[in-house]
Amino acid sequence: MYTKVCQIDCIACGLCQLKAPELFDYDPQGIAFCKLDHNQGTVEIPTAQYTNFKAAYQKCPTGAIKRQNTPFTE
Ligand code: F3S
Repeated sequence: MYTKVCQIDCIACGLCQLKAPELFDYDPQGIAFCKLDHNQGTVEIPTAQYTNFKAAYQKCPTGAIKRQNTPFTE
């Protein structure tokens, strides 16, 4: 599974980093990005992080966290 944050939709609420600190961090404006690959969505989420990822994905209030089974291409 792959993930990236739609930074236009992120409102800097902070929940994803709280739920999955290994996967998400914030830029200086507080907008989230995926730490695995500088938000490219091309590095697979480690299976050990799936539970945390799911919590972040479900809690994001704007749906800014995207996920798919194949690497993102854009
Ligand atoms: Fe942004 Fe959603 Fe995280 S609004 S800070 S991507 S939980």
